[in-house]
Amino acid sequence: MEGRSALSEIEGAVHVPSVEAAADARERDIERVLIGEQEIQDKLRELGDQITRDYEGREPLLIGVLKGAFVMMADLSRHIRIPLEVDFMAVASYGAATKTSGVVRILKDLDHDLEGRDVLLIEDIVDSGLTLNYLLKNLRGRRPASLEVCALLKKTGIQRVHLDVKYVGFEIPPDFVVGYGLDFAERFRNLPYVGLLRPEAYADI
Ligand code: IMP
Ligand code: MG
Repeated sequence: MEGRSALSEIEGAVHVPSVEAAADARERDIERVLIGEQEIQDKLRELGDQITRDYEGREPLLIGVLKGAFVMMADLSRHIRIPLEVDFMAVASYGAATKTSGVVRILKDLDHDLEGRDVLLIEDIVDSGLTLNYLLKNLRGRRPASLEVCALLKKTGIQRVHLDVKYVGFEIPPDFVVGYGLDFAERFRNLPYVGLLRPEAYADI
């Protein structure tokens, strides 16, 4: 697999799943950990501090994009030390399962009115950026006072549209990752780290 060599160059990448791997059925299909649990938590604390400072005196509305953002939303929101509200949106992309078409269907819309709100959109990963691009356009039309994005992961150099993502956790090579909210065929969302699947796992599922 072409991408694997690029990933192994990431500094501090842990090369084996946790020592309990054999006993943890979640980890059977994981080849290696790319971003460890502690590293994610440290980064979210850092982002939370930055967001706390940036939104001081305001009461932001955090919007999580389901399903992937549910884990990050829970952890990040607890590192933001100002009053805030949360809401969720569920979207599905039209087209083939593995490729984003850029046309997005809203499966669950927001409960909140966005007019005049300071909105912070929480995304698990920015890949082609097409989903995010569509969402930003849609949300901007609802006239929020401000609109920013916080993404845990951003794949480097493959965005097909220009996107201003103010808060980024980690830039990663353009390989398929799972865990910490991210799925493959709906599995692996409950891994506490971001990892790479064993090639056989793609064939098995
Ligand atoms: P984009 O529109 O290409 O940026 O992709 C957006 C969505 O595709 C993300 O919110 C994820 O749900 C999914 N996705 C993209 N890359 C990955 C990946 O590496 N692992 C799991 N899901 C991914
Ligand atoms: Mg998915």
